[in-house]
Amino acid sequence: MAGITARICGICPVSHLLASAKTGDKILAVKIPPAADKLRRMMNLAQITQSHALSFFHLSSPDFLLGWDSDPAKRNVFGLIEANPDLARAGIRLRQFGQTVIEKLGTRKIHAAWIVPGGVRSPLSEAGRQWIVERLPESFETVQLALGLFKHLLDEQFQAEMNIFGEFPTLYMGLVNGNGEWEHYDGSLRFTDSQGNIVVDGLNEDDYHRFLGEAVEPWSYLKFPYYQPLGYPDGIYRVGPLARLNVCDRIGTEGADRELQELRDRAGGVATSSFLYHYARLIEILACLEKIQELVDDPDVLSPRCRAQGGVNQLNAVGVSEAPRGTLFHHYQVDENGLLEKVNLIIATGQNNLAMNKTVAQIAKHYIHGSEIPEGLLNRVEAGIRCYDPCLSCSTHAAGQMPLHLQLVAADGRLLNEVYR
Ligand code: NI
Repeated sequence: MAGITARICGICPVSHLLASAKTGDKILAVKIPPAADKLRRMMNLAQITQSHALSFFHLSSPDFLLGWDSDPAKRNVFGLIEANPDLARAGIRLRQFGQTVIEKLGTRKIHAAWIVPGGVRSPLSEAGRQWIVERLPESFETVQLALGLFKHLLDEQFQAEMNIFGEFPTLYMGLVNGNGEWEHYDGSLRFTDSQGNIVVDGLNEDDYHRFLGEAVEPWSYLKFPYYQPLGYPDGIYRVGPLARLNVCDRIGTEGADRELQELRDRAGGVATSSFLYHYARLIEILACLEKIQELVDDPDVLSPRCRAQGGVNQLNAVGVSEAPRGTLFHHYQVDENGLLEKVNLIIATGQNNLAMNKTVAQIAKHYIHGSEIPEGLLNRVEAGIRCYDPCLSCSTHAAGQMPLHLQLVAADGRLLNEVYR
């Protein structure tokens, strides 16, 4: 199942490998060796780094640097290479760093079936370890450059975006470790609110159906998960980089904790604008690099004792991990032979669905007056959704092209206007 589910997505295969293998660990009823825990962590940190770098440098920084109203044909990484070749090159190399760490561990960049129930297939090689050590300083430099740039843009020109790109109160959900620190792989689930209160703590993924509901709407392929005690749609919550930084007490590494404090100071407490997902992604890249640096010096990552063996010992199991875009659940039921009988996946992007819809409404209400759809609205709607860095290949059943189609509907249901891209 780990090998199959990884193929759901070419962008976040490692996340599915992890959630699936953790579910498999429970079906085998094994405790994975310490070396396997560290090696899995290292791969997830590399995956978060490469995915966040893709989101920031390739997909979003053209919006930031070329402007929302610039030609869509130029608002991409090629336009960025023309406008700011040094930044584009550094961003491409940062993503390549994360991808190569994944390759050094799993022997392939994507769909590496290296994480398996019980642990991982093989340790890191000494040559791989040295490559990581050598490339870390440049990666740190790049994320610091991007953090400086983004903070400058926040100060100079993004006040409107801060106020309308998903600025509203919701709950936040994410994993934290036993000390309440930022967690990307294990730990327990915590919900906080927009005042910073802990709503509920120490939740176990096995009980997800008690605190998460999954609504469906006829007009979307994407499910609408919600916090069950508040009902649908009042139980709106956000997951992913911003949520993880909001739910944790601290990150647990020096540089990232300094940046987290600055984010909280700038936001005046809890960061409630989804525009700050971009900022949170950069802070998480820094946290990932710091944690990779700690792990790469740990002798366990070279240890061949990295896989526990076992048989089918449990027929129903839930695994959870943090994907780049947020918390990912896999739930399997198997028969006595270990054959799958029932599967449910709760994908990070789905959990942000209510918030993404609310963001589109907020942007539309700000820019649309009467029945005209102003120039540049499509770009802003797209950029509002892009704050969440949705992975639609993971979370929907859509096939083929995904055109942007915006309909303006009156209160009585009449279609007032529409635009396509
Ligand atoms: Ni994905």
